[in-house]
Amino acid sequence: MNRKVLVTGGAGYVGVELVSSLLDSGFDVVVYDLFWFLSEEYFNKFGDSLKVIKGDIRDTVKLRSAMDGCSDLIHLACISNDPSCDLNPELAKSINYDCFEQIVRDAKASSISRFIFASSSSVYGLREEPNVTEDLELRPLTDYSKYKMLCEEILKEYSDESFTTVSLRPATVCGYSDRMRLDVVVNILTNFAVNRGLIKVFGGEQLRPNIHIKDMVRCYLTLLMAPREQINGKSYNVGADNYKVIDIAKIISKATNVNNIKVTPTDDNRSYHISSLKIKNELGFQVELGVEDAVTELVKHFKDGKIPNSFEDIKYFNVKYLQENKIDENSSRFR
Ligand SMILES: NC(=O)c1ccc[n+]([C@@H]2O[C@H](COP(=O)([O-])OP(=O)(O)OC[C@H]3O[C@@H](n4cnc5c(N)ncnc54)[C@H](O)[C@@H]3O)[C@@H](O)[C@H]2O)c1
Repeated sequence: MNRKVLVTGGAGYVGVELVSSLLDSGFDVVVYDLFWFLSEEYFNKFGDSLKVIKGDIRDTVKLRSAMDGCSDLIHLACISNDPSCDLNPELAKSINYDCFEQIVRDAKASSISRFIFASSSSVYGLREEPNVTEDLELRPLTDYSKYKMLCEEILKEYSDESFTTVSLRPATVCGYSDRMRLDVVVNILTNFAVNRGLIKVFGGEQLRPNIHIKDMVRCYLTLLMAPREQINGKSYNVGADNYKVIDIAKIISKATNVNNIKVTPTDDNRSYHISSLKIKNELGFQVELGVEDAVTELVKHFKDGKIPNSFEDIKYFNVKYLQENKIDENSSRFR
């Protein structure tokens, strides 16, 4: 196929599954990551079509040289949720925003002709509209979401006939990955049900859109293959079920036979629901899996011991990992 895809954050929750699928689909792949949550050795099982580089995206010289010979860039690397960004705002800004424009500029000056950016559906903030579509004004409520919005704006400025850019605004991802995250809603609740016999729900009435990790990965492949004129300079929502958290709890209860659902009031009433019609109408992309599928697979993997020490091991929880490893804006810096 002669396409080589550079994936920043390729050793993250979405990244590892994406990399494996890209390789299966015949792409050459370069993973560029700091390997916070997964070791470089994990990738030894893949063949020569994969190159692995340990590097910081803020090291723009190193990242620029990783771009050589690549045709596409999928930019996933970041501090990837609100609490982790709030933990160290300077670190979050330096990774999620400050280096971004230089990365885009370098990509454009290199052999890369398609840049796919992992944004987030949280860019919309809290909305009353029944259908949150891409044309709505963005009202990000947190640093994490604000930097996603700002990066989308920067990226769009660089798009032209020879440099295709697109931003994806995914719902919250759920399901099993070889680099597991247990700090995203469906995975958190399933962990509690299977391993504590209890489903703890904070609030419950908030709507939370979700997407199965396999659909997430397929969506990036769709963007890689889409005709350039169809996607250039655009942003797309993508999600499956817009469930209330309490309904997610009920799905998990059914799948696990754990009926002990404990509802506690919360201050975090963020509620949003997204429309994924644009990506369906323009690119024919539709999700194939739902929360039920993610939960069934997770239950199996917990029972098979593939997610050991699921409450104790901090690698499953981004904010705890950053906190306990004392990662700040200098500690992970290249010199
Ligand atoms: N997981 C979700 O629910 C979700 C939803 C919407 C959007 N997204 C976006 O998708 C992308 C991937 O999310 P994820 O869940 O896989 O996150 P993750 O935290 O599992 O992975 C992020 C990866 O980036 C790497 N990284 C962080 N800072 C880096 C740096 N300075 N240099 C190089 N590598 C660095 C980490 O080591 C990690 O492997 C992110 O951009 C995230 O904002 C995720």
